[in-house]
Formats: sequence, structure tokens, C-alpha cells
Amino acid sequence: MKVRVTTQTLKFVIDLVQHVGDMLCKGTSRKKRIEYKGSVDLVTQYDRKSQRYIVRALKKHYPDFGILSEEAVSHRISEPVKWIVDPLDGTTNFAHGLPIWTISIALEVEHDIVLGVVYDPTRREVFHARAGRGAYLNRKKISVSRVKDLGRALLITGFPYDIRTSVDNNLDHFADFAVRSQAVRRLGSAAMDLCYTACGRFDGYWEKKLSPWDQAAGSLILKEAGGVITDFRGRPFDIYGDEVLATNGLIHRQMMKILLRK
Ligand code: IPD
Ligand code: CA
Ligand code: CA
Repeated sequence: MKVRVTTQTLKFVIDLVQHVGDMLCKGTSRKKRIEYKGSVDLVTQYDRKSQRYIVRALKKHYPDFGILSEEAVSHRISEPVKWIVDPLDGTTNFAHGLPIWTISIALEVEHDIVLGVVYDPTRREVFHARAGRGAYLNRKKISVSRVKDLGRALLITGFPYDIRTSVDNNLDHFADFAVRSQAVRRLGSAAMDLCYTACGRFDGYWEKKLSPWDQAAGSLILKEAGGVITDFRGRPFDIYGDEVLATNGLIHRQMMKILLRK
């Protein structure tokens, strides 16, 4: 199926995330109702408010497209064309008043991501990409860094919500990279991690056990910025898969080697 992502569609999605972002910003200083989905996995009334607004707008303007959105909304999920939405990526930060969180919307057409938009309302930064047409930050073209030595690379990662109960919790890789790279950071928004790698603020990013909404938009932005994205073995990246390794390409093999160490 051929779906052309027009400038109009791009504008619609950018306007939508900006509107919702401003709405959420008003909530940052207000009291949040926090519910726990797991021992450390939380959700606030603002995740739900954001999702309600986004889903309503997408359904109204694109009634034939499916929607997969984090907070238990699936609408025509078997459609070959669907929106993949994280209404608030970085909920733990948001709930604590830490201004590092984003809104992420991607359009998937028969398993390919053709449009990705990630908005950071705190810094008013919109990252976007359309397949084959480059990646942009506030409409300026972006590209990955040129750092080629892992020892000089600034890396970013995250930890899964089962960190307390699973041994497969990424702490081993974190320790390995901490002593081999320039430094490792943990921001708490996977969508932002991918966009920051896309624009060269980070040189490499890895994480496990993410969901499609965490990485759909960011993965296209990273690719369109000239980055390389695979699983830990270098196999093609899958937003429904278990691993992501996203780099400037130059340090990809060096990172793979560490990730595959037993
Ligand atoms: C989380 C963030 C975080 C990542 C978690 C995600 P949420 O998303 O992207 O960086 O480490 O695994 O689940 O729950 O804030 O939408
Ligand atoms: Ca998320
Ligand atoms: Ca979320």
C-alpha cells in the first residue's frame, strides 16, 4: 500500500504534539494522581489526558488508520496503516517534576515507519523525519556525530521496569560501557534518547525491553539522520523486538562487541 506523507499531514502532527505539549506543561506544577502499573512503572492523569486528546484528533482526521497507543488504546489495530503513539514518554520524570519528557507519534505503513515526530515541550524542540527525506530539529536538518572511538563516545541507555526482579536488567552492560566510553547517561525518555543520538548530542544508545511506542518515531529520525539501528547482533531493527542499538554508525561494531560479551 502506498501512503504519501504530505506536508499537510506532517504539519497536522506537529501542531498536534505542540498543542498537547503545552497542555501538559500546565500540569507540571500541579498535583499528579499517580497509579502504578508495576512496581516502578507508573502512569498519571496527564498520560491519559494526552492520549485522549491525541487519539480523538487522529480518529477524526484519519478515520481509516489504526492506532496503537501506550495506555491501553487499540483502535483498528490490524490496519496496515496505523499511528503509534506514546502520549508521554518519560512519565517517571514528569511525575517528579523533572523536565525531561516527550510526546511521540509515528505512522507505520505495512511494518515500515514512514513518519516520526517527537516533541520536547520544555525546550520547544520538535524532531521529525519522513522516510527518505532526512531528519530535522525545529526544521533544521540534523545528522549523527562523527565520533569514531568508543573511548570518546557519550552514550545513553535506559533500564527496564522489571529491573528489581530480572537479572536481564541492563546493569551488566551499563557497567561495561561506563568504563569503556567517555561517559554513560540515563535520561528517562527513549524517544528523546534516539533523537539526541540522531542530532549528535549522544554517539550511541542501547536499551532492552522497550515497547513499539517508545521507539517507533525516534528510530526513523535516527535513520534519516544517517545513524545505524539494529539489535545487539547487528540484525535489522524491529520496533516490536526486544533490543535496540542505535549509533552514529562509526562506533556500532565496538558497541556490539561489548553487548555480546558473555
Ligand atoms: C519509558 C522511557 C524510559 C525507558 C522505559 C520506557 P514511559 O517510557 O522511555 O526511558 O527506559 O523503558 O518504558 O513509561 O515513560 O512512557
Ligand atoms: Ca515510553
Ligand atoms: Ca508513556
